Amino acid sequence: MNLALYREFRPKNFDEVIGQDYVIKTLKNQIKTNRLTHAYLFCGPRGTGKTSTAKIFAKAVNCTHSTDGNPCGLCAECVALSEPNTDIIEIDAASNNRVEEIRDLREKVNFPPLIGKYKVYIIDEVHMLTESAFNALLKTLEEPPKHVIFILATTEIHKLPATILSRCTRFDFKLLDVNTLSTHLKNVFDKRNITYDEKSLYLIAKAGEGSVRDMLSIADSVASFCDNKIDYQSAEKVIGLSNRENIKNILLAIANNDINSLFISIKEAIGAGKNIQVLCKEMADFIKNLIMIKVGVTDYTVLDILPGDFNKYAEIANLFNVNYLKSAFSKFAKIELDLKYSLNPENLFESACLELLSNGQEPKGANEPVNVSIPSPTAPKEDVQKREQTEIEKIWGNVLLRVKENNMFAFSNALTNVNKVEEIAHKLIVHTNDLSSFETIDNKERIDVLLKLVKLFDDSIVGVEVEYDKNNASTQDIKDNLKDVFKSRIKFKE
Ligand SMILES: Nc1ncnc2c1ncn2[C@@H]1O[C@H](COP(=O)(O)OP(=O)(O)O)[C@@H](O)[C@H]1O
Ligand SMILES: [Mg+2]
Ligand SMILES: [Zn+2]
Repeated sequence: MNLALYREFRPKNFDEVIGQDYVIKTLKNQIKTNRLTHAYLFCGPRGTGKTSTAKIFAKAVNCTHSTDGNPCGLCAECVALSEPNTDIIEIDAASNNRVEEIRDLREKVNFPPLIGKYKVYIIDEVHMLTESAFNALLKTLEEPPKHVIFILATTEIHKLPATILSRCTRFDFKLLDVNTLSTHLKNVFDKRNITYDEKSLYLIAKAGEGSVRDMLSIADSVASFCDNKIDYQSAEKVIGLSNRENIKNILLAIANNDINSLFISIKEAIGAGKNIQVLCKEMADFIKNLIMIKVGVTDYTVLDILPGDFNKYAEIANLFNVNYLKSAFSKFAKIELDLKYSLNPENLFESACLELLSNGQEPKGANEPVNVSIPSPTAPKEDVQKREQTEIEKIWGNVLLRVKENNMFAFSNALTNVNKVEEIAHKLIVHTNDLSSFETIDNKERIDVLLKLVKLFDDSIVGVEVEYDKNNASTQDIKDNLKDVFKSRIKFKE
C-alpha cells in the first residue's frame, strides 16, 4: 500500500517547495544572514506549502551545516529534529483552541531547547484560537524568550486581531498556476511509475485549483481508479463534471435566453459545492477565454484550457459577439467583490445573469439588432442612397430572421457581427470587423444560403460577398493589450 502522494511528496528542503519563490528566497536570506525574527505569520490558501515550509524553516534555523539556507539533513541537529522531539512543537489551533493550552505553552516556552539553538512553535490554523487564547498568546509574543521562534499559519488572515498581525513578519503563500502544478505532477507520476497522457496531466493540475495538496489528492484517486495507468476518459470520470461544465451550461442558458435552464444551471453549480464568489470568478475567467478566442488566440496555455479543447470553446465563443462578451466580463468582474459582502450573494449573481438576457425578448449576441451603418454623408446623391440603404437594412433584417429560424446557430451568431451591409452593382456586400465571424460567413454554402434568402426579398441581387474590415477591427485594442501582457507567447491566427 502506497503512502498518499501528498504525504510522500512533502518537500524536505526549501528547494523542493514549488511556486513560492518570494517567500522561500526571503526566508533563506534571513537564515544565511542570521537575521531572524521571533514571530512569523504564514498565510494563504490550503495546500500551498505553509506547514511544510514552517517545518523546513524550524530545521534550518537549527542546522549547523546549512547550505544556501537549506537544512543539510545530515548534522546531529537535523537528524534529531527529524525524529519526534520537544524542540519543534506543532499545535493545531483547530483542536487546541482553549485558553489553557496557550497558558501551558506560555510556561513551557521558558525552558531552553534540548537539541539546537531554537525552540520553534508552529501554530497551525491560528485563526481558530479563542479570544482569551489570543490574549494569552499575545503576552508571549510581546516578550518572547531569545530561544523561541513562533510560526503562525492560517488560511484566514482576516480573522486575526491586529495586535497579533502587528507583531509578526508576514509571508503570503500564493495559489499555484496550472503550469507549475502540471510540471510538479509530471515529476511525481514519473517517480511513482504512474503513466499518463498530457491531457490528463493538465486536467488533474487544473482540478487542483491552485493547491498542490488538492491536486495530489485528486491525482491519488485518479491513479488508483486507473490502476496507475491514467487515461483521459477515466480521469474525467473521476474528477466528475468539471466546474467548467457548470459554467458552460450557465452561458448556454444565457445564449438561448432560457431562464428556466439558467436557474437550473446555477443551482447545479452551487449544488456541486461551488461558492458563489468562486463561481463568479470562474465565470469571468471563462468569458475572458472566449474573448481571447474571438480575437484569435489559439495557444491553450495562454487560454488556460485543456489541450484539444479549443474547438469546444470556439463553438461557445461563436454564440456571442465580442462586445457582448466584454460587457459580460466586466459585469462578473465587478460583482465579484460585492458578493463577498452581500447578504444574499446568490441573488446578486442570479440578477447579474438575468441582466445578460436582454429585456426578456432579444437575448444574446445572436438576436441583437444588427448594427447597420449609414453611408458616409459626403457621398453623392445622398437622398437616394439613404433610401436604398434603408431598403437594404430591411432586407438584411429579414434575412437574419430566416437564418435564425432555421436554427443555424453558428451562422446566425456570426452574422450578428456584421456591422455594415451595402449594395454595389447588384451585389450585397457584407462587412464585418470580427475575424472569426468573417471566417464563418466566408464559406461557399453559407454565401449561397444568404444569396437565396436575399433573392426572396429582392430578385435584382445577383451575388453576396463578405468583407473583413481589418483596419477598423474592433478587436484590435484587445489584441494590443494581450500582446502587452503575453509578449511573444501569444499568437494570433491572421
Ligand atoms: N509549495 C509546495 N511545494 C511542494 N509541495 C507542496 C507545496 N504546497 C503543498 N504541497 C504538498 O501538499 C502537502 C500539504 O502541504 P502543506 O504544507 O501542509 O500545505 P498548507 O499548510 O499550506 O495547507 C505537502 O505534503 C506537499 O505534498
Ligand atoms: Mg497546513
Ligand atoms: Zn543540518
